[in-house]
Amino acid sequence: MGTITDLLNSRIMESQDKKLYLGAVIHSQNQNQVTIIPKAVLVVIDGKVAALEPLMENSQMGDIISRFEPNMITKLHDTQFIIPGFIDTHIHAPQFPNAGVGYNMPLLEWLNRYTFPLESQYHDVSRAKVVYCDVVKRTLRCGTTTAAYFGTIHADSCIMLAEAARLSGQRALVGKVCMDQNCPADLKEETEQSIQNTEVFINTLLNNGDALVRPIITPRFALTSSEELMSRLGQLANRFDLHIQTHLSENADEVKEVKKKFPNAKNYADVYERAKLLTRKTIVAHCVHLEDSEIELLREKRCSVAHCPDSNLCLRSGLCDVRRLLNVGVNVSLGTDVAGGSSHSMLDTMRSCINTSIALSFIYPDYTPLSYHEAFYLATMGGAKALDMEDKLGNFEVGKWFDAMVVDTRNYPMTLNPQLSISELFEKFIYMGDDRNIHRTYVNGKNVQVHF
Ligand code: GUN
Ligand code: ZN
Repeated sequence: MGTITDLLNSRIMESQDKKLYLGAVIHSQNQNQVTIIPKAVLVVIDGKVAALEPLMENSQMGDIISRFEPNMITKLHDTQFIIPGFIDTHIHAPQFPNAGVGYNMPLLEWLNRYTFPLESQYHDVSRAKVVYCDVVKRTLRCGTTTAAYFGTIHADSCIMLAEAARLSGQRALVGKVCMDQNCPADLKEETEQSIQNTEVFINTLLNNGDALVRPIITPRFALTSSEELMSRLGQLANRFDLHIQTHLSENADEVKEVKKKFPNAKNYADVYERAKLLTRKTIVAHCVHLEDSEIELLREKRCSVAHCPDSNLCLRSGLCDVRRLLNVGVNVSLGTDVAGGSSHSMLDTMRSCINTSIALSFIYPDYTPLSYHEAFYLATMGGAKALDMEDKLGNFEVGKWFDAMVVDTRNYPMTLNPQLSISELFEKFIYMGDDRNIHRTYVNGKNVQVHF
């Protein structure tokens, strides 16, 4: 299955849930290759890509098009194109109200002064509901079809976040944050309580029968977690075969503190390794100050790094050298890291990613900065790999879920130049487009339009 010819002879054409898209399609195959099909035929059946081919003047194309009712066909304008939805692999939903403040402080001070007091508010589920419904709408509006969310320690509020994603049709991994030390009293959990609440949270999400929203094990970071808590979370991840997310080597003072706190660990990454938290389903955010041996450990364990360039600049954490990670075969994805990052738009994160890389090229001679094609890869396929879902998400290979957006470059803030090719319009969107250029968004083939 996969070609138009196969499709014409297949029973899946009998499905009522089928859509045909005619127009430009752009996606990433691998880090070095963006495929642009200026005139494509894209067939989506039961929410999945059933065929993608260049449009040709032949009888088969006529046959396939005739099998769709007019209301099942979307013809794109010359200024429009379809790309895969963005995958934000590191974002703190409860921190949205603080986006844009407190960036005169380094990480550890910022956490105490701004982040922890805000997160305390989420013992109140009704407060959580208001913020989380808004977060899901805003991120979807910016083309984030999948997000790996940090919640807070409060399981009921995290369930509310999962519910908000489910109701809006956003694909999500939701983490109940776990911390049993070095935080304010009202956010500090007893180790046993943290594990019990996490189990309740996991079971609630797994039993809701919706594969779109899944739990993710979330020890906040090494400074707020005991070895016992981290080890037990590692066991839970193993028992339920779950994803894991945490922070790693974001800020120089943080790294010093971790070394002091865990004198027996070889380095920061080893703290997590000893707790069996490093797996192929683990996403470690930031990784700005890694030693070579830590990078080797991440590669060996097949963990992914969520690069959070906007946050790394806002909180002055440092310039993460993504090229160094990619060169040795560590998978990298992108994260907005609100509220460390000031923007929840993955477009802004892609630009910070490119700009961080350009800044590194001024420091290191012969350094090749990341291209916008590579940033796009990180935002789509890199994210799919980070979630160990590269067979289901990230591009439009046949059989994958149709998580996508239709971009329209006619809208503000862009100014039309009819001489530009589709490839140039794509470049323009990455460099200066925003949510006003996102015309439609789809998850599992379903239009998940958001109106404010
Ligand atoms: N490290 C531990 N917690 C946090 C957080 O909430 N944001 C960021 N950026 N880093 C962290
Ligand atoms: Zn973070």
